[in-house]
Amino acid sequence: MSTLAVYPGSFDPLTNGHVDIISRGTRMFDRIVVAIAVNAEKAPLFSMDERIEITRAVFKEHPDVEVDTFDGLLVDYVERRRAQVIVRGLRAVSDFEFEFQMALMNQRLNPRIETVFMMPAEQYTYISSRLIKEVFSLGGRVHGLVPELVEERLREKRMARKK
Ligand code: PNS
Repeated sequence: MSTLAVYPGSFDPLTNGHVDIISRGTRMFDRIVVAIAVNAEKAPLFSMDERIEITRAVFKEHPDVEVDTFDGLLVDYVERRRAQVIVRGLRAVSDFEFEFQMALMNQRLNPRIETVFMMPAEQYTYISSRLIKEVFSLGGRVHGLVPELVEERLREKRMARKK
């Protein structure tokens, strides 16, 4: 039986930390679905269409990575997709409390689904989508922290605001 893993999140925007976790996931599982949560962010910087397009473009050479969206409970989506595993990245101890709560709640909601935590490479442990947005909006450099396409789109958004 092939293992299908779901990597859920807001991905607003996709960072190199996410890319690293997805790449690691493809080495552990036969296929990984990057599942972008609808409505997870109240006022996202990137629209759902942009997030889908960016993630698909970044993984276009990887047939074992699929990009999809989901609404409602994550465990219901995972069950619908007949996946066995939820993948979440753990960067630091500060992530642990919330991730632990979510994993246990998901376990209670559906004991057939396992949450697997993966650590990104050390150089990505301090990156978060929230910090990327903040640093970029204040004029800081995010080069090397996000895929080039994300950097390009951030620049376009900045230009559009200036007009
Ligand atoms: O990138 P994020 O914001 O850390 O992702 C959080 C996400 C989308 C994975 C989480 O909020 C989620 O699973 N939302 C779907 C609704 C749900 O199932 N909530 C109960 C989780 S215990």
